[in-house]
Amino acid sequence: MSLHSSNAPMPRWERGDTSRVPYGVYTDEAVYRRELERFFYKGHWCYVGLEAEIPKPGDFKRTQVGERSVLMVRGKSGDVHVVENVCAHRGVQFVRERFGNRNILVCPYHQWSYDLDGRLRGVPFSRGVRQPDGSVHGGMPADFDMSEHGLTQLKVARRNGVVFASFDHSVEPFEDYLGPTILQYFDRVFNGRELTLLGYSRQRIPGNWKLMQENIKDPYHPGLLHTWFVNFGLWRADNKSQLRMDEHFRHAAMISRKGSGGENKEVTSGVSSFKQNLKLNDDRFLDIVHEPWWGEPTVVMLTLFPSVIIQQQINSLSTRHIIPRGHGEFDFVWTHFGYADDSPEMTRRRLRQANLFGPAGFVSADDGEVIELSQRGIEQVPWHRALVELGGRGCENTEHMVTETLIRGMYDYWRKIMED
Ligand code: FES
Ligand SMILES: [Fe+2]
Repeated sequence: MSLHSSNAPMPRWERGDTSRVPYGVYTDEAVYRRELERFFYKGHWCYVGLEAEIPKPGDFKRTQVGERSVLMVRGKSGDVHVVENVCAHRGVQFVRERFGNRNILVCPYHQWSYDLDGRLRGVPFSRGVRQPDGSVHGGMPADFDMSEHGLTQLKVARRNGVVFASFDHSVEPFEDYLGPTILQYFDRVFNGRELTLLGYSRQRIPGNWKLMQENIKDPYHPGLLHTWFVNFGLWRADNKSQLRMDEHFRHAAMISRKGSGGENKEVTSGVSSFKQNLKLNDDRFLDIVHEPWWGEPTVVMLTLFPSVIIQQQINSLSTRHIIPRGHGEFDFVWTHFGYADDSPEMTRRRLRQANLFGPAGFVSADDGEVIELSQRGIEQVPWHRALVELGGRGCENTEHMVTETLIRGMYDYWRKIMED
């Protein structure tokens, strides 16, 4: 795997900085293979799910780390294991259900069985098969050691109900991986209150996986592309905002406070998505109730590199899992959640506001579509590059959102790891 990708030439950057992104980073399969090795399989924590998805011992969820199929499993004593969904015998990807409950994991092919933490527990005919004449046929060699042939175990990090995993057992502690600034915003949403699962949306987006990271590191577009945001004041260039990154610039937080909406000539004049007369027939979609834990912001969008986005937009909460499939496509899995001590009205409200997001969301449908259109245009001129110069050419935290600094930051980190 590493042979052909490690020798592949990396795309050429027009400048020393990251203000011009060569389209090869989105179109080149060898670049993509190297990203899998260096971001998804080594040195990074990837999102696998919420503990609320596997409440009982034996519960499991099948998901992916990069392109590799894994199982998040609740152990007998309440611990959480993440193991690779590949049989140690001859490689069968043996769990096909998305969710289920098992006492023991069994591969159908030759019924090797594994404990919930992936240790090999049973091998049929390992001591051979005794014949009527007393002789024994076959069996595993005498030096076969069950303890050497379990499922691949990933390192697991749990924080306030959220589970991350890494194939790399030497990865830094999860808290250090996020860094203090981003950790503080992570803990704002996941503050130790028990979570409840409200539902899923899934979509397949025909675009490079990084375009989704960029989309949520891009405060330039929401007040322009999204009619909904502009009209109802949820996200506009005149909202009070901050952009924050970790010290490596790989993760980011977009923090903003909603304005009152309506017309403001500075930000709405000439913005074709602003429609003065657009009104909701059912205004319960925007029945916003301020929750004390928000503090001042009404929205914080967190991008945790490389695999997940954590969304708090008014009362709607979700994780958005990025699962890459080749250089030009990814699956995007939304897990909508709330808190166990929410009132029934708050749960209703979270679900109703979730209509803004997801594959067909009033807002997010726009993003899926522009990412598809981006990939199409990029594939057409793969030798060209993107221009990411709003707000300058450097990478810094800001007190406003008229900038593409977070995208430049992500590629600053990308170059460090990929060009090494
Ligand atoms: S491949 Fe799984 S038991 Fe043989
Ligand atoms: Fe968007």
